[in-house]
Amino acid sequence: MNILIIGTGYVGTTTALVFAELGHQVTGLDKDVSKIELLNNGRLHFFEPGLGSLLKKHLEQNLLHFTTDQENAIKRNDIIYICVGTPRDSDGSANLSYVEQVANVIGKYRNRYKVVVTKSTVPVGTAEKVHQWIADDNPESQIPFDVVSNPEFLREGNALEDALHPDRIVIGGSSQKAINLIRSLYQNMHAPIIVTNSRAAELIKYTANSFLAMKISYINEIAKLCDKLDISIEDVAQGIRSDHRIGPHFLNAGMGYGGSCFPKDVAALLEVSKRNQVNLSILEKVVTVNEAQPFYLIQKLSEKLGSLKGKKIGVLGLAFKPGTDDVRESPAFVLIQDLLSKNVKVSVHDPVVKIADHLDSHQIVQCDSIVGAARNTDALVLSTNWEQYLKVDWLNVKRVMKTPYIFDGRNMLDAQKMKNDGFDYEGIGC
Ligand code: UDX
Repeated sequence: MNILIIGTGYVGTTTALVFAELGHQVTGLDKDVSKIELLNNGRLHFFEPGLGSLLKKHLEQNLLHFTTDQENAIKRNDIIYICVGTPRDSDGSANLSYVEQVANVIGKYRNRYKVVVTKSTVPVGTAEKVHQWIADDNPESQIPFDVVSNPEFLREGNALEDALHPDRIVIGGSSQKAINLIRSLYQNMHAPIIVTNSRAAELIKYTANSFLAMKISYINEIAKLCDKLDISIEDVAQGIRSDHRIGPHFLNAGMGYGGSCFPKDVAALLEVSKRNQVNLSILEKVVTVNEAQPFYLIQKLSEKLGSLKGKKIGVLGLAFKPGTDDVRESPAFVLIQDLLSKNVKVSVHDPVVKIADHLDSHQIVQCDSIVGAARNTDALVLSTNWEQYLKVDWLNVKRVMKTPYIFDGRNMLDAQKMKNDGFDYEGIGC
């Protein structure tokens, strides 16, 4: 089938590649000429494992191409996915201006029956608004169209795996014809399909992300209690993971959640609930706990080192999680900013992120190696759980540090082994 993807950001590009992989003929549309040129040349404008080779493969097989020509793209395709950004407004709500612009353009150029699908994370009621925006652009038109919600659940760093093997596919809409058409796109995927109305589909996405964020804040709170009681949070997490009602995932205590989704989506759900006079107080606490988490680490550093002024601290990891170069809402940055405000000298290491692209300070040095970042430091903080940090020769690292104190902000290293190696090792709740 022919599918148009509007918006070639992270979700749009991944969606385009996955549909091409499923054998569909896909067009990616964006107004950003430089992005389109890059993509047509087989290059991604973001870092995501596995997508680069898939892009080259489908460009070569002519299953995929990218364009800036809105009119032609819309006229030639009858299934149109909206994958543009919905950034957070100052009140926490999702900004729908890009979605509205796209809906207007679709309204302008629609020439026959179209199914318009929202993939972007959008508040409850957006599908209805999109319907209105499309219709408003040409009120005289008798050409029918349907709007369907088909939210995306992929994780950065695992986008391909998540998109090709989803736990479920959610399709929300009121037209059986449109739902059947969207369902048929996924016929080669072995995943349960949940069909509902568009409002429920939109709420499913926010509820899922907020629930996962809640699990993280919950385990982080328990971890702080573990610190007081001298109990290992890992033992506790292990003990509850095996309860199938709780489940094994998203119970790793650490510096808190970041990224482009959880903080934004929890804020948007809170905003919707306030607007509808429903008190989602549990989610307010989820946010408070998460925002405080990097400062818990600072407090631990201060307890260990005394005044932080003039100290040198190495920070390992800048991305909000491993497998991505995304630093949006990364707890590592909250930590670094606070250290800088306390006149700490900071050395950083990250396998893909360059701090100078995001933060300009003479107090920060970026190092290519972990040993480099550890040299002459009073403490090291591990802030992103990059797999390669598991393979480090820590004895080598210890030799170059001023004092062998390491704070594992992701609880990823083997505490006993680090202690045996002579480190003063601390984690969150261990
Ligand atoms: C999330 C959702 O998982 C995905 O379904 C949705 O489509 C987009 O938002 P993503 O933001 O890519 O995906 O990252 P995710 O792997 O969910 O991690 C989010 C944050 O939570 C990261 O900062 C991560 O380090 C943190 N996290 C995750 C924890 O602190 N502990 C955990 O146990 C799991």
